[in-house]
Amino acid sequence: MSKNMYRLTNLASGKSSDLETRSGTVGPDVIDIGSLWRDHGVFTYDPGFMATASTESRITYIDGDAGVLLYRGYPIEQLAAQSNFLEVSYLLLKGELPDAARIVSFTHSITRHTMLNQSLLRLYGGFHHNAHPMAMVAAIVASLAAFYHDTTNISDDHHREIVSHRIIAKIPTISAAAYKHSLGQPFVYPRNDLDYCSNMLHMLFAVPCETYEVDPLHAKALELLFILHADHEQNASTSTVRLAGSTGCNPYAAISAGVSALWGPAHGGANEAVLDMLEKIGDVKRVPEFLARVKDKAGGARLMGFGHRVYKNFDPRATIIREMCHKVLAKLGEAHSPLFELALVLEEIALKDDYFISRKLYPNVDFYSGIIYRALGIPRSMFTVMFAIARSAGWVAQWQEMIADPTMKIARPRQLYTGPVRRDYMPVSKR
Ligand code: CMC
Repeated sequence: MSKNMYRLTNLASGKSSDLETRSGTVGPDVIDIGSLWRDHGVFTYDPGFMATASTESRITYIDGDAGVLLYRGYPIEQLAAQSNFLEVSYLLLKGELPDAARIVSFTHSITRHTMLNQSLLRLYGGFHHNAHPMAMVAAIVASLAAFYHDTTNISDDHHREIVSHRIIAKIPTISAAAYKHSLGQPFVYPRNDLDYCSNMLHMLFAVPCETYEVDPLHAKALELLFILHADHEQNASTSTVRLAGSTGCNPYAAISAGVSALWGPAHGGANEAVLDMLEKIGDVKRVPEFLARVKDKAGGARLMGFGHRVYKNFDPRATIIREMCHKVLAKLGEAHSPLFELALVLEEIALKDDYFISRKLYPNVDFYSGIIYRALGIPRSMFTVMFAIARSAGWVAQWQEMIADPTMKIARPRQLYTGPVRRDYMPVSKR
């Protein structure tokens, strides 16, 4: 038997199967279990996908023990230092960095797709002023299907490309409009002379009665956050996009499902939850008391912004963002902001605590992202929306990869049933 095969034996019947492994370009091999049901009549059981690769992908690679994150082979540190969000989006979508002509054409296409149909803008009026922006963004992204359903043939490469450009282009406009609706301010139209991140800030903060100048430092900080959040292989929201998209549904519906999945506090909602947590702690003196509650698991308390399913040593995004946090806050004259100081103390104490060390819990990207967003004047309810804008690049790249794969199947997991066995219906008078 080859050393790259595993033998599964049913000890009761003695029946064996040899399971092949498949190797990627880097990272652990996977065991192909496709034949288990056919040969043994059993399913595998892995709630939470702790040891299950749900797909093959060529887009993003993570080595959780070494703290490595690569987009199409390029280390996140190099992209964060030298690239920009649209170039990274192109890389994720196409697999290669663009040459000068290609980035001009891609940027032109994204810039020309930023407007929203006026009818779509009227939908915001149906939301209460205090609706969470994530609820509005999920709804409006899904509503794009009402405008483009008939012109979206997912089997056509060109249509798929246009859909991807529309999503990356329109999600900032959709998100900024959600924020403006919550303030009761007029929607601000996109400006095609601005780069992607400067335009985002313009749509969030400009008002018709004043001139708004984008601060280049703010735009740069946003660029960095967007690059860091652009993709993260088969995370919960991306897997949701793939699962929904595997039915052949309209891509806007699949991306909207991803937005909803991202909202949870265990995922993209963590950046908002970190700020809530820091404000609740309120003072460095209360850090030990808070950490004691976390360690007791009192009321399910968690140290938000800590821990990751894959990173068990450090999150390379957190290292980059921590440094950026220092720079941004220093330039904004907020280096000694009480909230940042509290976060630093919390991190320092937690990193020395055996509870966190033994469970390999380290700060993740969201421990610091909320602090930067706050310094940029972005309200807390918009933090996860900003994450969604960035992750839209990864979602469309992963959706495209899946749909273009001729072996794609509808994602249809099986289950271990533990409910009642067959029983007969009784009329209510006899129950
Ligand atoms: N605070 C306290 N304890 C924790 C934490 C935390 N943040 N995270 C995990 N643990 C404990 C958990 O209670 C368990 O302890 P025990 O072994 O005693 O039962 C152990 O560590 C393993 O935790 P788990 O929940 O089985 O780990 P997981 O891989 O299923 O969860 C996670 C990963 C990110 C959901 C989790 O670490 C968490 O809830 N973190 C806080 C939320 C957060 O910051 N999320 C953002 C993730 S990064 C951005 C993104 O990708 O969206």
